[in-house]
Amino acid sequence: MRKTILMNPGPTNVSETVRSALKTKDICHREPEFSEVLQRVRSNLLKVVKGEKTHTAIPFVASATGSNEAVISSIHGKILLINNGKYSERLKEIAKRYHISTKELTFHPLEQIDLKIVEDELKSDAKISHMVLVHHETTTGMLAPLRQIGRLAKKYSKTLFADTVSSVGGHEIDANLDNLSFFTVNANKCLESFPGISFVIARKKDLAALKNKSRSFYFDLCKQWEYIEEKGQTPFTPAVQLFYAADKALQELLEEGLKNRIQRYKRLKNILKIGLGKLGFRFLLPGHLQSNILLAVKLPINMDYWKVHDMLKKRCFTIYSGQNLLNQGIFRIASLGRIGEKDIRTFLIELRKILDKLGVRPIYS
Ligand SMILES: Cc1ncc(COP(=O)(O)O)c(C=O)c1O
Repeated sequence: MRKTILMNPGPTNVSETVRSALKTKDICHREPEFSEVLQRVRSNLLKVVKGEKTHTAIPFVASATGSNEAVISSIHGKILLINNGKYSERLKEIAKRYHISTKELTFHPLEQIDLKIVEDELKSDAKISHMVLVHHETTTGMLAPLRQIGRLAKKYSKTLFADTVSSVGGHEIDANLDNLSFFTVNANKCLESFPGISFVIARKKDLAALKNKSRSFYFDLCKQWEYIEEKGQTPFTPAVQLFYAADKALQELLEEGLKNRIQRYKRLKNILKIGLGKLGFRFLLPGHLQSNILLAVKLPINMDYWKVHDMLKKRCFTIYSGQNLLNQGIFRIASLGRIGEKDIRTFLIELRKILDKLGVRPIYS
C-alpha cells in the first residue's frame, strides 16, 4: 500500500516508530507502567513549551475542542474574546453555552489583530477578567501576535487563554514569555501523534484558583489535575495506546529539537509556496501573516477544487478545502507532520501533471 501524504492541517502523518508504539502490550491504566508513560508525556510536553517550573499539562481523552471546553467551562468573570476566525467563533459558542459574559472584539480574518483596539478595550472595561484568542487560525493560516497579547494581559493583570492547538510544536511558544495562564494542544498536529487526546497546559497558580469552579463533570480541569497529581493516573479510563504513541512522538520531538522542527516546517512551507507560486497560484495572506505550517491558496476561477482534490487523492495526496471562507474561494495545503522535502516536491510534480491534464493554468479574476 502506498503511503498517503496528508497535506491537511491534522491529523498528520506520523513516524513508523510512533505508529509501532500503538502496538504496546495489553496493559491496565491503573498499573505503574502506564503512570510512568503518562507522567513522561506530561513532563515532555512542558519541556516543549518551557513551562516545566510553572505550568502543568493536563490530558483529556478528547479532541482539542474538549480541552478548550475544559478551560472555558471553568471561567468565572468576563471574557474579552479576540475573534478573527472560525476557531475563535467556536470558543465564543462554548462560552455562550456556559452563559459566560463575553465581550467580543471582531477582526477581519485577513487582517492582523489591532493591538491598540485590544488595549483600549482593556482600559475601558474593568470587568474583563480573561482574554481569549486563537494563536494560529487554521482556517486561514493567520498567526496572532501572541507575545504582544501576552504582554497586554500582564500589563492589565488579565488571565490569558490561547488556543494553541495547531501551533505548539510548529512555532516557538514560551509559557512564561507569552504569559499564558492556559493553553491547549492536541496530539495530532505539530506533535505528530494520533488524534484522540489533547492537553490543557495551565499555570499552576491559576489552575489552583479553579478548584470547584468547573461547570463540567468530565472536563473539570482542577479535579483532573489533582487526581493525576495524587494518583499518577487519569480519573477515567484513558486511551492507553494513544498515550504510548504520544510518548514516542514527544520523545522524537525533543530528539529533533523544537528549533529544528520549526526549521523543517518552515523549509517545507517555503518549498511548497515557491512551487505553488511557479504553478501560478496566489495566496490568501501576505507572507508576514502566514504561519509556518499552512498555506491558504486562492482558488483560481478556472479550477474545480474537488476534481483536483480527487485526482491528487488517487495519487496519494490529501489536500484540504476551505472552511467558512470556501465561498470566497480558497483551499488549504498544510506541510506539518512527518513528511519531508521529497514528499513536497513529489506533490508539486503530481499537481503540475494534473493541471496539465485538465488544461488548467490558474486564472484569477
Ligand atoms: C486552532 C484550532 N483550534 C481547535 C481545533 C479543534 O480541534 P479538534 O478538531 O481536535 O477538536 C482545531 C482543529 O483543527 C484548530 O485548528
